[in-house]
Amino acid sequence: MADKLIIFDTTLRDGEQSPGASMNKDEKLRIARQLERLRVDVIEAGFAASSNGDFEAVQAIANAIKDSTICSLSRANDKDISRAAEALKGANSSRIHTFIATSALHMEKKLRMTPDEVFEQAKLAVRFARNLVSDVEFSPEDGYRSDPDFLCRILETVIHEGATTINVPDTVGYAIPELYGNFIKNLRERIPNSDKAIWSVHCHNDLGMAVANSLAGVKIGGARQIECTINGLGERAGNCSLEEVVMAVKTRKDYFGLDLNIDTKHILAVSRMVSQTTGFLVQPNKAVVGANAFAHASGIHQDGVLKARDTYEIMRAEDVGWTANKIVLGKLSGRNAFKQRLLELGVQMESESEINGAFTKFKELADRKSEIFDEDILALVSNESVSQENEQYGFVSLSQHSETGERPQASIVFTVDGKEVKGTSDGNGPVDASMKAIESIVKSGAEMVLYSVNAISGSTESQGEVTVRLQNSGRVVNGVGADPDIVVASAKAYISALNKLHNKSDRVAAQG
Ligand code: KIV
Ligand code: ZN
Repeated sequence: MADKLIIFDTTLRDGEQSPGASMNKDEKLRIARQLERLRVDVIEAGFAASSNGDFEAVQAIANAIKDSTICSLSRANDKDISRAAEALKGANSSRIHTFIATSALHMEKKLRMTPDEVFEQAKLAVRFARNLVSDVEFSPEDGYRSDPDFLCRILETVIHEGATTINVPDTVGYAIPELYGNFIKNLRERIPNSDKAIWSVHCHNDLGMAVANSLAGVKIGGARQIECTINGLGERAGNCSLEEVVMAVKTRKDYFGLDLNIDTKHILAVSRMVSQTTGFLVQPNKAVVGANAFAHASGIHQDGVLKARDTYEIMRAEDVGWTANKIVLGKLSGRNAFKQRLLELGVQMESESEINGAFTKFKELADRKSEIFDEDILALVSNESVSQENEQYGFVSLSQHSETGERPQASIVFTVDGKEVKGTSDGNGPVDASMKAIESIVKSGAEMVLYSVNAISGSTESQGEVTVRLQNSGRVVNGVGADPDIVVASAKAYISALNKLHNKSDRVAAQG
């Protein structure tokens, strides 16, 4: 029987640390449900001690998810670890993941601690965590750039204290596949009790090698857990991408000889959900989940695929969730059909009133757009979650006028704490005028650092999905809005970003 490879998803923790990718509790819960459907083994739901918002998100996920182990990150101190344990109380299966930096550079410059102090703190942290839960992961942060002798000393001790998983992060994405694989192999060979823990890889993508490094850690180093994120979301150039490592291990089982729990046909749905929730678009040529990943444009390729699929296809598009871009629902579809489609897409709503709200929005959309695709439904529910009743600003209506040779004008009605207000402005274009109309009332002073429009289902009849990234006082947030009218989509995205800016939660950064 083949060995099992554990898939540890950290989209909701390391992925979320990417500037602008922060998610609220409901968004995280929805993604966690989709990760459970994907049959991810471990979901790192957040960093409970970093903020009250993250604590609540970890707690909500721990209470709701039954089939995956739920993990919280925690610095190596009793206070953080207790907070993680508290948030994880409701989980069927829980893990505490504690970490401390071990490279000379991080210990001296960041922690200002001696190696002996770091050693002692790691030992006590794992001991403390093991008294609270039976599943404890330890990470030596910047592990790949750490002195192997020191790592052997510290890792042997934390395994002795009861760490059940040892994760070796390439925190800054510096590794090369063969070297990283051998680094882990060497540690496992030198540490006498290394067989008492499962070894794990955690690679960042700064040199574009996170997936290759992770796979080398498995093949050469003997690791049996990969830490990864959906769409490779993560700080800087991101983390190892879940869809890529999973499909590599599955497609090349002849080489890796490993079993996975993952139900790959849910990959595309969760990829889209993460992209639509965070506003981080997936590049068209991205492996597995990019729009072109299975498109054969050249005549020779098309001819070959028609004669025999495997001439140019090494994976089946259906196996990762691609279906023909079919019309799923329309104006005449009823509430039950809508509810069923939500379930098939892996979207679970908390209550009947939430389903009713989404169904009303669906009907409004179906009145304006004859063909409703899966992408439209996902966008609709993603945007549903960012337009919560308790948010400060809410879109109501917009009118704008633009004519060749004249300066465009926009007038927008929106709510501020439930009360309707109206802003008007001109601008370089109708979108610019609409944003300025909102700012004429809100006066946030935020700087727009990104504006992008994407046609959700490809044609001019599709909904436009707009991402707006705002920066204010060092905080960066993304807002996403979708509508068949891209000026309205832009206004919704701007309002969603303002709500996120308003909803301040001071977080402690994991690498801080
Ligand atoms: O990249 C890293 O080192 C991390 C740790 C906190 C595990 O994300
Ligand atoms: Zn990381």
